[in-house]
Amino acid sequence: MEMKILSIETSADESAVSIVETDGEFPTATYTLLGNSLRTQIEMHREYGGIFPAMARREHAKALVPLLQHCLEEAEMLEVESQEITSTDREHIQSILDREPDMTKVFLELVENHARPEIDLIAVTSGPGLEPALWVGVSFAKALAHMWNIPVVPVNHMEGHILASVFDVEEDDQLAQIEFPTLSLLISGGHTELILMKNWGQYKKIGQTRDDAVGEAFDKVARLMGLPYPGGPEIGKLASKARQQNLPPFKDDLPRPMLHSKDFDFSFSGLKTAVRYAIEGKELTEIDQMAIARDFEDAVTEVLLKKTAAAVDEYGIQTVIVGGGVSASTYIRQQFNAGFLESHPDLQIYFPTPGLSTDNSIMIALAGHAKADGRLSPQGAIDSIRADGNKSL
Ligand code: KG4
Ligand code: ZN
Repeated sequence: MEMKILSIETSADESAVSIVETDGEFPTATYTLLGNSLRTQIEMHREYGGIFPAMARREHAKALVPLLQHCLEEAEMLEVESQEITSTDREHIQSILDREPDMTKVFLELVENHARPEIDLIAVTSGPGLEPALWVGVSFAKALAHMWNIPVVPVNHMEGHILASVFDVEEDDQLAQIEFPTLSLLISGGHTELILMKNWGQYKKIGQTRDDAVGEAFDKVARLMGLPYPGGPEIGKLASKARQQNLPPFKDDLPRPMLHSKDFDFSFSGLKTAVRYAIEGKELTEIDQMAIARDFEDAVTEVLLKKTAAAVDEYGIQTVIVGGGVSASTYIRQQFNAGFLESHPDLQIYFPTPGLSTDNSIMIALAGHAKADGRLSPQGAIDSIRADGNKSL
């Protein structure tokens, strides 16, 4: 069945809207990207060294209507045609967008001046993430659903990351056909989780971080060293220089937290604190920064790899999916590929294509399609969709 999905992502500091055309059923469908627009707020959050929720919300509210307009234009679905909007509709939209008055005006202008596009489904991230940020996307989806009479499916952001990792953009615009049970390692700014998947939609969390998420640890360590947000790519660049130059360790005994614990949980705050003690009161040279970045990245990667390998053995896994913003790390990719090639030569490992590692709305369309095809939990009424910052898989 062909279907056009409009997807919306606002869980953190990227506002993103896509239009994806699907042909076939999940998980064997072909996906064609008709329109895609993304606006990152990274520059704005830089001075806070992390995401500032009130600003994230305001910026999403400013961005969504222009992003949608751009996306519709790109998909050649933006047709100028004036529409009659009844006062009841107008009031309803105002009540849905009640928390975002700035968005209401531009929203009404867009729908008043354009024909209803041929969209079959709206997929929106409803969690996990920053709740004020999530609400902007959810309210926007509800307002569109009301005006254009389109069903909405709420999507779990982490499920989006899992799907992004198996979506083959370069080859055939399809999802890789994976073998279950599959293990997903989700590593992002807010999450560090090992998810055992019996099938699509059947997930069991077998391990998670007890304190900081991996991405958060990268961001905090970067901040300690005076590097800009987001810290992951900055640390990655410095660490790679340190390896090229074969620099001696800055601190050769950084902890590998919970490496030998019997469970599959993680902890990264102790590692971050160890870095803080190691550099406290010191004037760091660029060489020092490179060495610290490398020592830290080594410690993180070793823990992630060994814990994942232990779970692979425990559950007889044939396929590992690594997803989330931190999976953009070149070093983590290399180490996983090399490490598993040696110890588990038959294991399939999937990483997202670089453009799909960090937050985007293409992955939300994929997850929305999975839900619409009944492969995931059934959808409820649009009015009852809520943003849930702690939504879990
Ligand atoms: O998935 P994501 O875009 O947003 C969340 O859902 O959190 O992940 C963002 C996180 C940030 O903490 C960022 O520092 C990290 O991903 N990240 C990286 C790299 N690129 C982004 N961490 C390590 N190496 C990278 N190359
Ligand atoms: Zn994410």
